Amino acid sequence: MKDAVHQTFYLADYQPPAYLIEDVTLTFRLSPRATRVLSRIHFVPNPDTSDRTFFLHGEQLTLISAKIDGHEITPTLTDTGLTAEAPDAPFTWEAEVEISPETNTALEGLYMSNGMYCTQCEAEGFRKITYYPDRPDVMAPFSVRIEGEQPILLSNGNPTASGKGWAEWHDPWPKPAYLFALVAGDLRATTGSFTTRSGRDVTLNLWVRPGDEDKTAFGLQALIDSMKWDEDVYGREYDLDLFNIVAVSDFNMGAMENKGLNIFNSSAVLASPETATDANFERIEGIIAHEYFHNWTGNRITCRDWFQLCLKEGLTVFRDQQFTSDMRSASVKRISDVLMLRARQFREDAGPLAHPVRPEQFQEINNFYTATIYEKGAEVIGMLKRLVGDRDYYRALDVYFQRHDGHACTIEDWLQVFEDTTGRDLSQFKRWYSQAGTPLLHVEDSFEDGTYTLTFRQETRPTPGQPDKAPLVIPIAVGLLSPDGTEVVPTTLCEMSAATQSFTFDGLTEKPIPSILREFSAPVILTRQASNAERAFLLAHDTDPFNKWEAGRALAKDVLIHMITDGNAPDSAYLDALKAMVSDESLDPAFRALAIALPSQDDIAQTLHASGVVPDPMAIHNASKTLRQATAEHLADILPDLYAANQVHEAYQPNADQSGKRALAGAALSLIARLDGGKQAQAQYDAADNMTQQLSALSALLLADAGTDALAAFEAQWKDDRLVMDKWFSLQVMMAKPDDVADVVTRLTARPDFDMRNPNRFRAVIGALGGHLAGFHHPSGKGYELMADWLIKLDALNPQTTARMSSAFDTWKRFDEDRQQMIRAQLERIMARETLSRDTSEMVGRILA
Ligand code: PHE
Ligand code: ZN
Repeated sequence: MKDAVHQTFYLADYQPPAYLIEDVTLTFRLSPRATRVLSRIHFVPNPDTSDRTFFLHGEQLTLISAKIDGHEITPTLTDTGLTAEAPDAPFTWEAEVEISPETNTALEGLYMSNGMYCTQCEAEGFRKITYYPDRPDVMAPFSVRIEGEQPILLSNGNPTASGKGWAEWHDPWPKPAYLFALVAGDLRATTGSFTTRSGRDVTLNLWVRPGDEDKTAFGLQALIDSMKWDEDVYGREYDLDLFNIVAVSDFNMGAMENKGLNIFNSSAVLASPETATDANFERIEGIIAHEYFHNWTGNRITCRDWFQLCLKEGLTVFRDQQFTSDMRSASVKRISDVLMLRARQFREDAGPLAHPVRPEQFQEINNFYTATIYEKGAEVIGMLKRLVGDRDYYRALDVYFQRHDGHACTIEDWLQVFEDTTGRDLSQFKRWYSQAGTPLLHVEDSFEDGTYTLTFRQETRPTPGQPDKAPLVIPIAVGLLSPDGTEVVPTTLCEMSAATQSFTFDGLTEKPIPSILREFSAPVILTRQASNAERAFLLAHDTDPFNKWEAGRALAKDVLIHMITDGNAPDSAYLDALKAMVSDESLDPAFRALAIALPSQDDIAQTLHASGVVPDPMAIHNASKTLRQATAEHLADILPDLYAANQVHEAYQPNADQSGKRALAGAALSLIARLDGGKQAQAQYDAADNMTQQLSALSALLLADAGTDALAAFEAQWKDDRLVMDKWFSLQVMMAKPDDVADVVTRLTARPDFDMRNPNRFRAVIGALGGHLAGFHHPSGKGYELMADWLIKLDALNPQTTARMSSAFDTWKRFDEDRQQMIRAQLERIMARETLSRDTSEMVGRILA
């Protein structure tokens, strides 16, 4: 094993910066392999500390010259930065460095994508641009001059001057370096405008490469909707005259909230009906909102240090979820969010990568842009809102914006605002930020003399580094139904804080049926095994849409699990209940589409493992397939009508109404394909004029083993559209039979258009491999080996994306001895690489530990 030891950073070690910055001026002379960056920075001693160590971060920089107050100096250079003697008084720092954007394949710092220059600085990428205190608690106004031959030269803030081959920008709002951005290229704008409620006219530009102009309208409208929503709901206005969004093909994440110059992965912003699915449109709307909302929750108020990442991410995810609920269907949004939370965050929280919402240590902060910090971070805010109530929540937010505007803050600052405005003691609630692991919530009930009692017991299992857990504050929303189906107690909040706690409801005439954890009011696992009769009852009668869906899901899971563990046949009571629900036209089609979907195979593996059974991926695969086939047969007589009734006859719109219908018709189509060999799917494919229907038809055809022609036609039609081809690549892996997955991946990765430097393309294939339970965990071990091969290859180019994708292995301890041994061998092979990045080494090390 390699012996490189990487430094670990601890929250407890926080020290304020020795120097603060009054202002920064940067000049960029762009050149693919020899860009010069000149910096002029006014430093002042930080009055809050007596420390006068002058340290600037810097990595992969060639220092040309450095001056303090005009005098040339020779700083001491290290791998991570430089130190120098500095005055205990205000002074001016000037430096010139050289960097090579063209060879920067890590996509962090200044890099090139398709001939265009762009930057990514969060979290610690600015140090690859110039020497600087690259920490979020150092905030400064930036002036930037860009010299380059590209027609469009952009940076943060407002443009101040420009000429042929240069442009100057000024951002008056003090910001940390991670929000810096620069873009230079041949770009075309789609322009719009927004007038804020106090009358500021803001120009909105969505910049794309020539040829993509027809994919910008939706993103621009989403931006306008977001700006309006943040005014209406949070009272937050935009604060510059210009808001730029740029689409970039090569990007590690979804998008980035740089002040006034958001940079987007093209997959997170470009959309037209022909090229993007309904799901893509919804995701784009959510991400545009997310980045825009960061302007207040992230930029105006930022994080003191990276341990506080959830301060901006949890809150901003919560806000974008609220936005989507308002724009679309709140119950459908809640169900989708919980599906995602369980699939990604619960998985993370149950394995070797578990960490608190506010972690206390890291080696590489890029490894902490996780489902726990984002999604569980948002759940914690949702619980807080539920506990204090809507009115107090918005009052507290007003105080937060007012008290902390322009500051770099902590979770303590955030909670203090709530304590001050509501008078509540949040010390126990704060444990949600420090304690990792998903709590199990056990329930018992009893009924006597008209009083119904629910007794809850909470239990959080040990996670890495945290053997003992303390009780949390858990808001449990409960409603009670009488056996005839009427609701006798509407949704009531039970505030649990003890390890075991009872709640009583009196004045009842008969024992009610409980609907527990309505709206999924806390990110916990309810262990209660209701009878299937009770689940069927809730599926039919619950007034809470989330729990109605949940009841159906629990039924489906139970059926699948018994098929796997006891060899049962598909349960007809479940199939009857499903049939009744699917044909219930009073229910939103989008809701019905969600209810038809089976639990994911990974979800089943997770559930089996939690109940002490070693999951067999092949058995899970086969049971899911058998149940789908049985569903198709059981619903055969209603499928044609269901399909026909949910066709959209108006012009394509990616709105909630139309997309719900397409989702339900698509679900019907995939069942029909199991009965008719793909005839209906081929007809839909041939007639499709939008990507949602083209793709759902293609996937139904692949399911029926009848997709060869359509795959070829799809490729011929879309070979020049990278984003659409990503779908073509990933669908083939997703739909492959377990025995074929490795071959399909090998064939696809041998194609000249498999460009591993492009994270979207890499994820389309290798990400889909990790997501194919039975293919990845194939008994031959080929899936593991392929994954490890590709992670090793990519690590040399792009550590950040490699490290993220290594989490494909994080469930390895669920599986049998043979599989564990094969996975361990692959993980050790990765670890043994001489030049493994810090990112991947930390991740694989944690997975192995
Ligand atoms: N801050 C970005 C977001 O959540 C995510 C991101 C992190 C992008 C790191 C790039 C690099 O919106
Ligand atoms: Zn974010």
